[in-house]
Amino acid sequence: MRKEARSVWFIFVLTAGLSCGISASEVLKFDIGQPASLVQIEGWDIDVRPDGLGLPVGSGKALSGEDLYEEKCASCHGSFGEGEGRWPKLAGGFGTLSDVRPEKTVGSYWPYVSTLWDYIHRAMPFLQPQSLTDDEVYSLTAYILFLNDLIDEDFVLTHKNLPTIVLPNQPHFVNDPRPDVHNTRCMVDCISADSNLAWDTANLDVTPKVTLKKMSDNNDSKTAMPSAQAVALSTYVQSCAVCHDAGLSGSPILGDKKAWGVRLELGITSLYEHAINGYLGTSGYMPAKGGNSSLSDPEVKAVVDYMVMMAR
Ligand code: HEC
Ligand code: HEC
Repeated sequence: MRKEARSVWFIFVLTAGLSCGISASEVLKFDIGQPASLVQIEGWDIDVRPDGLGLPVGSGKALSGEDLYEEKCASCHGSFGEGEGRWPKLAGGFGTLSDVRPEKTVGSYWPYVSTLWDYIHRAMPFLQPQSLTDDEVYSLTAYILFLNDLIDEDFVLTHKNLPTIVLPNQPHFVNDPRPDVHNTRCMVDCISADSNLAWDTANLDVTPKVTLKKMSDNNDSKTAMPSAQAVALSTYVQSCAVCHDAGLSGSPILGDKKAWGVRLELGITSLYEHAINGYLGTSGYMPAKGGNSSLSDPEVKAVVDYMVMMAR
């Protein structure tokens, strides 16, 4: 864990430098800040993994967590984990997950005990986070498991047996079944013309539009990736939406069947012509190519096609 944290820091500096087009050695000349020391990293590196990695050596008995819980936790979470007022419940709720109002607690919902240990250790008590000793966290974790009838009051929870306790809902957490999440990670030139995307990234507005445009320029007609429509959409978003999304200065709103119907009666050629060269109409002024002179005529036509399609 510790090593990972350090290399992440290093990679960050390296990539930040490289993306500005300078070498790693030059980066070091900035003289800003200082490398995080091992002690500093240790302070942050407190996460615990389901397999127990990150757990400190220690132990605690459920029963010995009771007093501590009463003193430091019950005022909010209730003596039996039932939650005072609207503070979170920590126990119960079994069998409610498919209800309209599921009761998600550590016992009914959480997949791993490691998360419980980590959460208490990191964040509780709410007003004095990270004030508990490791053994106190073990006892409290054990006590909350006991409140959920998952262990006996005499059970001694340790760093060794903690990962072996299986919470009831764990089997219902499944790996993401979508095929694209199982790919090998790719960091450069990841979308190729023949990659088979299941959904259109342009519609989600997550793929940089510059990339889309570059790809469409390089496309031969056989590999229509991304779809012409996706390119049209991204052009629309960049150059036309500012007016046509909201009907600014008298422009027909995207998807407004009535407004577009009237215009379509004059024929698509007239629409192309007006969009490319601009015109002063009865409701307002449409600037040539929406004011973006870098657009080619076919690009504008494609957007008009898209706008017309949206009005059908
Ligand atoms: C002042 C009120 C307060 C006290 C005292 C308190 N908690 Fe919490 N606890 C909260 C709140 C609020 C949350 C939810 C925080 C959030 O969702 O960001 C929470 C969340 C939790 C959760 C996660 C519950 C879930 O299902 O998401 C656990 C476990 C927990 N507390 C344990 C404890 C333990 C153990 C103690 C005593 C050492 C404690 N808390 C003391 C207010 C409190
Ligand atoms: C600054 C605001 C603005 C921008 C940006 C803008 N438009 Fe327009 N557009 C208008 C207005 C106003 C009208 C209506 C003019 C009228 O008919 O009076 C209009 C009308 C149109 C029409 C209908 C033409 C007709 O003959 O009825 C089309 C097609 C069109 N715009 C396409 C586009 C495209 C494509 C873009 C982006 C490349 C775009 N517009 C960007 C303001 C804008």
